[in-house]
Amino acid sequence: MVLHHIVEAQQFNKKTLQEIFIFADRVKERIERGFPLELLRGKILANLFYVKSIRTMFSFETAMKRLGGEVIGTESGEAFSSELVGATLEDTVRMVGSFVDVIVLRHYQSGSAKRAAEVSPVPIINGGDGAAQHPTQAIVDLYCIEKLMGGVDGVSIAFLGNLMNSRTIRSLVYFLAKYSGIKIYFASPRTLKMKDDLKEYLTEHRVSFSESFDSAEDLMEIASKVDILYLTQIPEDHFGDRICDYDKYREIFRINQNILNRLRKDTFIMHPFPRGDELPVQVDKDPRAIYFDQIKYGQFLRMGLLCYVLGVRVD
Ligand code: CP
Repeated sequence: MVLHHIVEAQQFNKKTLQEIFIFADRVKERIERGFPLELLRGKILANLFYVKSIRTMFSFETAMKRLGGEVIGTESGEAFSSELVGATLEDTVRMVGSFVDVIVLRHYQSGSAKRAAEVSPVPIINGGDGAAQHPTQAIVDLYCIEKLMGGVDGVSIAFLGNLMNSRTIRSLVYFLAKYSGIKIYFASPRTLKMKDDLKEYLTEHRVSFSESFDSAEDLMEIASKVDILYLTQIPEDHFGDRICDYDKYREIFRINQNILNRLRKDTFIMHPFPRGDELPVQVDKDPRAIYFDQIKYGQFLRMGLLCYVLGVRVD
């Protein structure tokens, strides 16, 4: 049997994504109509987290339980593991995989999900590996765009903030490159710009993109053009002693009333959370803020993903 690991965005095509979206739609419909779902009764998921999480960990846990399955897990994979005395991630994954039916792995090293998938006897779902990828958060975002905008083709999207280290943005950009007519605007501090490998990928795949650095004026211009403004935190620790730089960028990339005034009425504001100063709570009441919808759609999408990787059809 071919295992359906979820390691990185590049492994998907539009057809598979559509299949997962349909699973999520069907799960959503059944839950909203009050039908019990026992599709994964008898299955066990392991949340194997070496780095803290609340959204990804809880949403997979809830998704599995709502489908009738069970969950074991730890947020301290390394502390509780024999890895402290020299065992490898591979050994741990083999061991956990012999107990359960699917593993969600969050790890601090880029490439760890791929390493796990190479040895795991059960499907591996990458819940975030270092600064590399966070494909399930990005599929959630894509599903949210599909539902709220009626499709992904032709979408224009601005990514703001910490582009160098956002694994969610990396995954989402790889996904978007599969659709047609996509326009991407990257806006960030120069020291946190999008990495070259991803820009080369976009060029190879003929996806239109532009970059802007350190500029409040550019940001206003970009805000007036796009369908989606996708925000991420600017990390204070990146700037070390250069606190003036941090203060400057925090001001530039914080959503304020001037930026809200420049957005079109039908532009959506997205954020993978957790948020920082870039997204003041006052924005929550703006009808264009859909970051809590992202979380709500994430629940159904992760249920659809679990059915997909475990080979269970949702009819
Ligand atoms: N969005 C996200 O990945 O959040 P967590 O770190 O809480 O899982």
